[in-house]
Amino acid sequence: MKIGIDKIGFYAPDLYVDMRELASARGIEPDKFTIGIGQEKMAIAPITQDTVTLAANAALNILDDSDKKKIDLVIFGTESGIDQSKSAAVYVHELLGLDSAARAFEIKQACYGATAGIQMAKGHIALNPDSKVLVLASDIARYGLNSPGESTQGAGAVAIVMSANPRILALEDKSAYFTSDIMDFWRPAYSDTAFVDGKFSNEQYSLFFETVWKQYRSKSGLGFEDFEALCFHVPYTKMGLKALKPVLEVEAKEMDQQRLLENYQKSIQYNKVVGNIYTGSLYLSLLSLLEHKEGLKEGSRIGLFSYGSGAVGEFFTGIVQPEYQNQLKIAQHVDQLSVRKKISIEEYETLFVEELPIDGSTVKLAIENDSAPICLSGISDNKRQYINKQR
Ligand code: CAA
Repeated sequence: MKIGIDKIGFYAPDLYVDMRELASARGIEPDKFTIGIGQEKMAIAPITQDTVTLAANAALNILDDSDKKKIDLVIFGTESGIDQSKSAAVYVHELLGLDSAARAFEIKQACYGATAGIQMAKGHIALNPDSKVLVLASDIARYGLNSPGESTQGAGAVAIVMSANPRILALEDKSAYFTSDIMDFWRPAYSDTAFVDGKFSNEQYSLFFETVWKQYRSKSGLGFEDFEALCFHVPYTKMGLKALKPVLEVEAKEMDQQRLLENYQKSIQYNKVVGNIYTGSLYLSLLSLLEHKEGLKEGSRIGLFSYGSGAVGEFFTGIVQPEYQNQLKIAQHVDQLSVRKKISIEEYETLFVEELPIDGSTVKLAIENDSAPICLSGISDNKRQYINKQR
């Protein structure tokens, strides 16, 4: 039985910062951000969007009534969750009106969380072929104003419906994974910004890619010539390329290098203008490939490299399905990104330090300023209040 991705959608908040303006404000040559890092725009979440609402908005774009009835498992991958106890999956389950005969929980291993969710969903569907699983990957990446990681922030979510006989990508069984206890990036519970050893994280990311690729190659007997495209976890769009190029140069023929490098460019178009969305980054890259590469042939193999600092890496693969183009919402995604509002660096800095009360007091937020259908409308009694404007 084929199991894999039947639907995929994303949501990014309706505000962004231009990376050239951020560079100028920080006294940095703009080309460093646009060429050296490879980012053009960075999505900024207003206070009315958190990881719950970003994910719910992403899912709202792809679910129909039949999905809502069949989804019996909701897995939420995040590393910027809003509660140490209650899972974001339960809030989204309610906001979307999913059937109550469902499991719902949150899962964490830095940017690897959603990949763990996808592998778990695969097992669930193998045992329950009629069920559908909603996998959510949602994050707000925050390193801090004026920090070295500032240019690699972002906000957004990807929602994936997994099923049997998927119409986009059937996942193959062979997969290679690797875990090592390192401190390249982490966020203690008391901090709302991440700690990172930037150079070390880059080295480890590349090392993990090389390790899982070699492990996959020997498990599967396949090589780069067997892949139409490779998608990467993309904290910034130069990152995947930095890991891929040295391995390609040693192992791949010229024509395979050319195809994989060209398709890498197709896979980063959305990431370039959204920024780092942590758990969702790999899947935003997959969506970018599917929606920017014209005429991917049925049966093409796509490789996916997932990396979650701390660290776990995995390389797995999927086969493009004949109807995949009918499942995409290209016009909606282009429109969603093009109507976003650019904010000044001063406005971004104000939003960055805006906080919800932590003393139990009540706050009502101005949701009319947020174009998203699902918003955080306030907080009362230490409970976040959400609203789905479409209900
Ligand atoms: N024109 C063109 N390019 C320029 C330039 C200019 N004027 N000035 C500098 N550059 C280039 C540099 O040559 C460099 O290119 P290479 O990487 O090809 O050598 C690039 O711009 C970046 O320059 P630096 O390395 O000097 O940048 P930096 O010291 O400011 O740090 C960073 C960059 C380490 C990515 C930092 O932004 C950071 O710490 N980010 C967060 C950590 C991160 O994203 N790590 C990735 C792996 S970990 C992960 O994947 C998990 C996750 O999501 C967090």
